[in-house]
Amino acid sequence: MMEPVSPSGSAPTSKVSLQSVSKRHGRHLALDAVSLEIPVGSFCVIVGPSGCGKTTLLRILAGLDTPSEGRIEIADPSPGQPSNSMVFQGDSLFPWMTVWENAAYGLRMRGVAEDEVTAVVTRFLEKTGLMAARDRYPHQLSGGMRQRASIARAFANDPDILLMDEPFSALDEQNKTLLQQELLRIWEETRKTVVFITHSVDEAVTLGDQIVVMTAGPGRIKAVVDVGFPRPRNVLELRHDPAYGELVYAIWGQLREEVDRARAGKGN
Ligand SMILES: Nc1ncnc2c1ncn2[C@@H]1O[C@H](COP(=O)(O)OP(=O)(O)O)[C@@H](O)[C@H]1O
Ligand SMILES: [Mg+2]
Repeated sequence: MMEPVSPSGSAPTSKVSLQSVSKRHGRHLALDAVSLEIPVGSFCVIVGPSGCGKTTLLRILAGLDTPSEGRIEIADPSPGQPSNSMVFQGDSLFPWMTVWENAAYGLRMRGVAEDEVTAVVTRFLEKTGLMAARDRYPHQLSGGMRQRASIARAFANDPDILLMDEPFSALDEQNKTLLQQELLRIWEETRKTVVFITHSVDEAVTLGDQIVVMTAGPGRIKAVVDVGFPRPRNVLELRHDPAYGELVYAIWGQLREEVDRARAGKGN
């Protein structure tokens, strides 16, 4: 019997590999030698103080910006699949399109057949509880519903990687909890590679498989913490688990001095 040929030593499971990535905005060093491996199908959360370069990092992952130094490798998506979709904080919906048209936009741009568009959009609007609001415009929705619509649009687009930049930070506590649970439910079914940015340690521990703690600017990686809580996760039950509190506390320990440094540096 023949032995299977194993790929030579390299870890085959990274979706994203950052190798010593630095980024300057003019003379300002925003990211300093960031190296990170994000496994295929994992939920990676990046947490760090305001101004530490989180959005800069996400923009580089999205291909909206390029590193000043270092290398970034992203394993290829399947042919015809978009490489990523971004979900931003607050409102990134097209205001002149209905919820349905927003969710269908990416698929229609790719020329997907209309009956498939209907099937996919229906699926994700149902999952996010928006079917009844399908013909409404963004200004006719609450903040929570708008974020739901952004999430439906991102998943409907079927990207290879989902990039989320503090998507829930403008929401009240109840809406945030509901949306975290919904995001987990959809993600646990689809298992896309997600890179999720937040400044909330609670949110990071609730959602992530892997939490990347960044330093105050220039952003470096301070720690990478694996979160072993089983899936599917129930957001409320998880918060009740003493191990959850311990992990939040431990990560806060890492983050606190960075937050202090960021504040000292900026005088806010
Ligand atoms: N286009 C830009 N030009 C100049 N400075 C920028 C630009 N984008 C971000 N910065 C600076 O780089 C640092 C990191 O910004 P950002 O990535 O937005 O941080 P975060 O998302 O963690 O709050 C900040 O000091 C910010 O002011
Ligand atoms: Mg940001």
